[in-house]
Amino acid sequence: MNKKRVFSGIQPTGQIHLGNYLGAVKNWVDSQSEYENIFCVVNSHAITTAQNPVELREKTYQLASMLLACGIDMKKSSLFIQSEIDEHPSLAWILDCNISMGEMNRMTQFKDKSLKNPTNVNVGLFNYPALMAADILLYQADGVPVGEDQKQHLELTRNVAMKFNRDFGECFKIPEPIIPKVGARVMGLDDPNNKMSKSALGTNHAIFLLDTPEEITKKIKKATTDSLNSIVFDKNRAGLYNLLNIYQILTNKSTEAIEKDFEGKGYGLFKSAVAEVIIENLRPIREKYQELSAEKGYIEEILKTGTQKVRPIAKATYDKVKELVGLI
Ligand code: TYM
Repeated sequence: MNKKRVFSGIQPTGQIHLGNYLGAVKNWVDSQSEYENIFCVVNSHAITTAQNPVELREKTYQLASMLLACGIDMKKSSLFIQSEIDEHPSLAWILDCNISMGEMNRMTQFKDKSLKNPTNVNVGLFNYPALMAADILLYQADGVPVGEDQKQHLELTRNVAMKFNRDFGECFKIPEPIIPKVGARVMGLDDPNNKMSKSALGTNHAIFLLDTPEEITKKIKKATTDSLNSIVFDKNRAGLYNLLNIYQILTNKSTEAIEKDFEGKGYGLFKSAVAEVIIENLRPIREKYQELSAEKGYIEEILKTGTQKVRPIAKATYDKVKELVGLI
């Protein structure tokens, strides 16, 4: 029986944090046997914000190493770098010509990112969702495992694919979002009303996968909570709720079991337990990353194999698109 295909991507901008891991990468790893998997380091998306070229190249390889350290298995998945396959920007252009300004204008991430970086609001940042749609549609993906913040981009992807199929003839598979029930939106530790993000400035905002046990303990101890002292899943207590969700994913325990474990106990004990479970989950990843980062040749080889494996899929889709549109 043919497995369903999933495609997902992650930007090589800054260090990967617990939100990226719990919202996306952990799910990629955990469901690798269930699907045919294609994962991509989306470096072309990264240049929508200013990047130092030397650092960008370095971060691209580092992120590929990190994904392997997290458990992406080359026997089950293909991993490649977006800029290695020219069909991505080529298809994005054709999609651009089939997305209305009105629809693109509704993308909330563009608004957020423009506000955060008002001196570099470029056309690429505006068109970013068309490139993301191209990434997915080129591979005829059935599903796209992502965090909740990408939901709107996926709706746009589905809409442009349906419109294209209607206007030019059947071409694209319509992909389904795969968004986890818990962990789809990990919040900032210092600001639990906003999602954890790579670009936030506070030193206690995010836990990075390469943080040391001491750093993790310190950040969790400082995490914003409240003055109520009961440990219960209550969405209105955003800081506590965020820590409980993190704890729940990493322990796989039920809500009831967790509440029972911490009944009558205070924040001090709870926070130590959260820190401990994060440290133990990230320890093997950090160790594997250290091993892999000394093996640049091996990483390059894996990426080359990944590119070779997926290129024919991208080419077949793009050739069909060109023909349907009349571009030959
Ligand atoms: P990026 O690089 O910002 O994030 C990578 C993945 O991490 C998820 N994520 C989170 N999940 C839970 N809580 C958070 N605080 C959190 N922050 C980030 C994101 O939802 C994402 O799944 N546009 C994408 C990259 C992309 C892509 C694609 C994804 C480009 N092309 C095609 C899927 C398919 C992005 O900027 O992700």
